[in-house]
Amino acid sequence: MFANGRTHLAIPGPSISPDAVLRAMHRTSDDIYGADMAKMADTIYPALKALAMTTVAEPIIYVGNGHAAWEAAMANTLQAGDRVLVLSTGLFGQGWANQARRMGADVDVIDFGLTDGADPARTRDALAADLAQNKTPYKAVFLSHVDTASGLCNPVAPIRAALDDAGHPALFMVDCIASLGCDRFEMDAWGVDVVVATSQKGLMVPPGICFVYFGPQAIAARGALGVVPAYWDVQTRLPDNPFHWRFGGTPPVQHLHGLCAALDMIMAEGLDNVLNRHAVLARSVWAAFDVWAEQGPVALCVADPALRAHAVTSAIAGPGNGLRLRNWTETFTGVTLGVGIGREQGDDYFRVAHMGHVNAHGILGVLGAMDAGLKALNIPHGRGALEAAVTVIADATSATA
Ligand SMILES: Cc1ncc(COP(=O)(O)O)c(C=O)c1O
Repeated sequence: MFANGRTHLAIPGPSISPDAVLRAMHRTSDDIYGADMAKMADTIYPALKALAMTTVAEPIIYVGNGHAAWEAAMANTLQAGDRVLVLSTGLFGQGWANQARRMGADVDVIDFGLTDGADPARTRDALAADLAQNKTPYKAVFLSHVDTASGLCNPVAPIRAALDDAGHPALFMVDCIASLGCDRFEMDAWGVDVVVATSQKGLMVPPGICFVYFGPQAIAARGALGVVPAYWDVQTRLPDNPFHWRFGGTPPVQHLHGLCAALDMIMAEGLDNVLNRHAVLARSVWAAFDVWAEQGPVALCVADPALRAHAVTSAIAGPGNGLRLRNWTETFTGVTLGVGIGREQGDDYFRVAHMGHVNAHGILGVLGAMDAGLKALNIPHGRGALEAAVTVIADATSATA
């Protein structure tokens, strides 16, 4: 009915791919040994480094999704029996922990819940106790920068400080799958040793390639390992290898063209502008939720704005209402919201993505669709959400208008 026309995918990955990215991918393959292909390295690697704000780490591209990125990170740094501490704030911390166990690591998890973020003081105490009590301390500490299920954005620099305060030598490994290109992340300044990311969220490229940044400590850790499965081995993928060899086999040609186009778009806009766009659009979404929450069951899951991701917002809508609202917006407006995941009553929740190729009219359309859905479904809510969202955007532009 009213959904005919261009649909809008507001799930937190895969995100919307720009036409420029899709056009760049729509081609037959290049000669993978040719000079044209090798030239892509000049765009890809400097831009990937700039995105994560690193000059010392090497970003490596793997064919695979986020789970592959986790595995690549671990295959190069851990061996069976190594001890790992996972700071979990939602589904994806638990997922990374499970995968580490399946690789034979001995995993401890501190579960910080879904609303408050990883606590630096508790982390420091756990690490200090580890050093005091164990002959073989943790080899690595894992943290999700943004947990896409809970919508939490964790404080990365304070967790680094917790490692330093405890004098702990563990590698600090951070999952930026949902945050890269959306939430500010400073790999070098924040002392992160390994970063994992993927193409299909803030980078706006269809799923299929992932990135692992190895800092100097991580590359040293790889050097100290005996055997690393050949496909994951960072040593054969470092810059001193020819471009086409850096993929462990045939390069993902079309994805690399799409990635070049996406990185060109990000660099043309300017990373600070990209991050500011995400911040303002996220604030406009939260402003709408604050108004809806004035009456009825709809509420944001993360109370502290400083801990909310700029990439995705997670919300509760009352019993079964998350599912009802999603079905309604998809059927009647062409807007697909994200499902509630990592919760016992998933149908009570939903998520709104504001990552990657998003702008003011797209987000205001999503909010309008949700507002209409709340009314059509008779889910009680405060009135005036769109006014609040629009005001955030208007205020953010007033200095430049
Ligand atoms: C924070 C985070 N980590 C890991 C993953 C797993 O990535 P994938 O589904 O591409 O394997 C996701 C997926 O949404 C994610 O959001």
